[in-house]
Formats: sequence, C-alpha cells, structure tokens
Amino acid sequence: MADQPDTTGDIARAVVAAACAAPSIHNTQPWRFRFDEDTRVFEVHSAPVHGLPRTDPDARAVHVSVGAALFNLRAAAVHFGREPVVRLLPDPETPDLLATVRLAGRPRAALTRRPDLYRAIWRRRTSRFPFTPEPVPAAVLAELAECAHQEGAELLRPGPAGRARLLGLTADAEHRNRNDPARRAESLLWIAGPDDRAGIPAYAAGTQDVGGRLPMREFVPGTGTGRPQVAYESEPQLLLLATRHDGRADWLRAGQALQHALLLLTLRGLRASLFHQAMEWPDLRARAAAALPHHCAPQMLLRVGHGPAGFPTPRRLPVPPVTRWRTLTPSVPEEAAV
Ligand SMILES: Cc1cc2nc3c(=O)[nH]c(=O)nc-3n(C[C@H](O)[C@H](O)[C@H](O)COP(=O)(O)O)c2cc1C
Repeated sequence: MADQPDTTGDIARAVVAAACAAPSIHNTQPWRFRFDEDTRVFEVHSAPVHGLPRTDPDARAVHVSVGAALFNLRAAAVHFGREPVVRLLPDPETPDLLATVRLAGRPRAALTRRPDLYRAIWRRRTSRFPFTPEPVPAAVLAELAECAHQEGAELLRPGPAGRARLLGLTADAEHRNRNDPARRAESLLWIAGPDDRAGIPAYAAGTQDVGGRLPMREFVPGTGTGRPQVAYESEPQLLLLATRHDGRADWLRAGQALQHALLLLTLRGLRASLFHQAMEWPDLRARAAAALPHHCAPQMLLRVGHGPAGFPTPRRLPVPPVTRWRTLTPSVPEEAAV
C-alpha cells in the first residue's frame, strides 16, 4: 500500500500513479514518465497520440492534458513530503520532453496550503450529467479563479452575453464535428471497449440536452438523437480558461490551471464537464478570443455545478516502463479503486 511510501522509488511510483489519473483529451493519456533515482528527477514526456490529426493538429490539447498530469504529479509530490521543482520545456532539442520535476527536500510550495488536493485526485471525474439549479457559491468561484491564477492562467466568468456566445460557438463546432466524416472517425477511434485501458467507455459518454441549450459532445457518432435526452440546467455556470499567450508553455500552464481548479472544486463537492469543441476549429477559437476582455488565448470551456459524480474511465496501468528505473509499476492507492 503506497499511501505512506518509504523509499524514493516507492514515492516516485505513487506520484506517477497520481499523474496518470489526470483528465486527457478523449482519455488518450498522452504522457510518459521517466525517473532517475540518483538525481530524483522525473522527465515528463508527451506520447504520440495516433488518430487525432484533425482534432488536435498542433498537439495543443495534448499539452493541456500533460499539464493536467503534471499538476497531479506536483500535488502528489507535496503530499509525500517532497518539493516539486518544475522546469517546463527544458530542452529545445527534445521537443517531446515537456517538463522535468525534481523531488527536492521538504515542500515549501504554495500547494502545501491545500494538503487535501491529493485525495481529490482519486475522486475527480468528468461529470456529463445535468446539474441542479443551485448556484455555485461566489466564494468558490473566486477560489477557482485563484487556482488558475497561481498556475499562470485565468479562469474567466462570462456574463449572460458571453455565455450565449460561447455556447453558440461550441454548438457550431459540435455541428461541424457531427457532419465531418474524418472527425467523426477520430472520435469513434477513442470509444473504449470493455477491455481497453484508454478512450471513453460508451457508458461514460453522456447524454444529450433535450432543450438543445448545452452542446454536449457526441462521442459516438450518429447517436446524438438516439442517446437518452434529458433536461440540463437552463443557466449553466460556465468558466473560460485562458492564457495571456498561446505557446507550448502556456498550454502546459493551462493544463495545470485546469487540474488545480478541477481538484479544488472536487474538494468543494462540485462537478465539472468540459467543452473543448470550439477550441478545435481555429476560426471558432479566434471568435472566442475576440470576445475576451483583453488579448487572451482561450484554452477550455468548463461547466461547473452541483450534480452526480461522473462515471469512472480506465487508465493504462502499469504505465509502459520507458525508464532507467526498472520497476515503474505505479502503485495505486485504495482511494483509486472504482
Ligand atoms: C484537453 C481536453 C479536452 C477535453 N474535451 C472534452 C470535451 O470536449 N467534452 C467532454 O465531455 N470531455 C472532454 N474532456 C474530458 C475527457 O474526455 C476526460 O478527461 C477523459 O475521458 C477521462 O475521464 P475523467 O476526466 O472522468 O477522468 C477533455 C479533457 C481534456 C484534458
């Protein structure tokens, strides 16, 4: 049981298991980890994702996903009493090396102020269910914005006009996705069968909004009208994650900010679902950017609220051992059991 591991190797294994619990585009889990026991340095690599050439041609969503895993890794390091010293994109000659994290001495990071984040890693799930009309407390919205800010991103709260515009752009993107055979094929590729350890199981893919207000992503092509249609909340609480610039380091910051906010809202008993569709069409993403108060790059639309927990999704465990550390079998704590 890895909750209180003793050796550096045990800690590293537990930390990698936590990183792998992060959300990722279509649950592709596009990350790989290496760990050097002598220097206590993790290398966080992106793994090639086959099958999303149209959805994610620049690997922006891959970077956001790896950023989310990197945040988990940091939170777990703090939980196990180590300071995570992070360098983003440390080696221009190795483009798939997205970050290094050195496990230093006693943690001093700001994350020590939120020791519960580690437990939330195992409880967080994307919830595609309808939420109740109960508003998200203003204090929690402020906390979420602070989480994103700490990671170098912004979590913006659109007003009614902004909300209508963002939902409209997402609906346009969703409409295009459904009518584009190549994108439909990409989406279908990531529907997980019962034995798959990546992708989204059909049971977790969610329902459709009978009111047509919320453009829920249709993961299984052609089932938009065939899937159960239920009434979603009429005034969804949306948040737009954005960064000041739009380079690879910003995408990694966006992913860390996303995960920091998702874990915090999990701790506060809230749920979230993600609407990434408009970010996958350059013209629609540009229109979302034009709606922002100052020049910012939109990275993700979130919907937050009170509702049922999402369904569990599989993970590739053990992570393929691409490492100097011979026994990279992440030890998954009991909290992760589903
Ligand atoms: C970059 C990125 C884009 C995503 N886009 C969507 C989306 O458009 N719609 C959706 O329902 N979920 C989206 N997700 C959530 C993933 O489908 C989800 O994280 C994955 O299936 C694993 O499930 P879990 O979050 O419950 O662990 C996205 C996640 C990431 C990191």
